Amino acid sequence: MKKVLIDCDPGIDDALALALAAGSPSLGVVGVTTVGGNVDLALTTANALALREFLEFGDVPVTAGSAGALLRETVRAAGVHGATGLGDVVLPVATRGPAEGHAVDFIVETLRAAPGEITLVAVGPLTNIALAVRREPRVVEWARDLVIMGGSYTRGNHNPAAEFNMLADPEAAAIVFEAGWTVTMMGLDVTLTAVVTSDVLERMRPLGRLSGLLVPAARFYGVVTAEGGPAIHDACAVAYVLDPSLFTCVPAVVDVETAGRFTRGMTVTDFELGDRRPNALVGTSLDVKRFWDLVLEAYEGLAVR
Ligand code: BDR
Ligand code: CA
Repeated sequence: MKKVLIDCDPGIDDALALALAAGSPSLGVVGVTTVGGNVDLALTTANALALREFLEFGDVPVTAGSAGALLRETVRAAGVHGATGLGDVVLPVATRGPAEGHAVDFIVETLRAAPGEITLVAVGPLTNIALAVRREPRVVEWARDLVIMGGSYTRGNHNPAAEFNMLADPEAAAIVFEAGWTVTMMGLDVTLTAVVTSDVLERMRPLGRLSGLLVPAARFYGVVTAEGGPAIHDACAVAYVLDPSLFTCVPAVVDVETAGRFTRGMTVTDFELGDRRPNALVGTSLDVKRFWDLVLEAYEGLAVR
């Protein structure tokens, strides 16, 4: 059983990533923490709570975290995820509330209690993770791994230079990349290949009540993204934990631009290491067929539970 703590800002693709986790028996989700990102923290937390019940996560704690970036103005992506953060999807309102306390404390204490066991999966702005690192630098040793959806070595999506999660809190991202661990970076270079094609959508349709989440989510996301199809970015980070062999990853030194006039939030990625230690393992390709086999098998398992 691989234990994961998922930090997220649901978010359509965050929801599809949580569904992948929920439908994967080899994964043990020890907690979900929320961050302001795609939409405000109140909405990302409400969505995470609704998803906990809809996806039958049982009593996995959902803990709210940081509302906004460490230093910068708030950047949102409601244009991409809809006013609620979940597009056209309407889930039953959660009957249970968030855990007490702050996500940053939850992250620190959960890792402290099980050093070397838990992989952090961060699929929103990195505010909570950066604060956890600042509050208790030993989280870097305690985390088994840190897998993020964010960045890119080729392009941006929120603007030509920057991917959304990096742009939403570049200082936090810089802290996380400079913390001393090796960040596994699933950036746009791979996540934009995880596209819900019409064939994939057809395989989502017969999945009972789960299709009530998957199909409208994919359709809404497909209409509003510029990439020609809904790429379920965040699911790539969960898929990496489930089966790293789906991805080709290359060690690199990644620096996050925080000052650039046009390039703030850019992940400047250097694969020429020389004698430098890499601070990142960067996804460069995805076996798309095996990815969808994995994801759809998990969704199918969840649908018949
Ligand atoms: C990332 O930005 C958000 O809008 C998505 O949820 C994903 O985490 C893709 O750039
Ligand atoms: Ca996200």
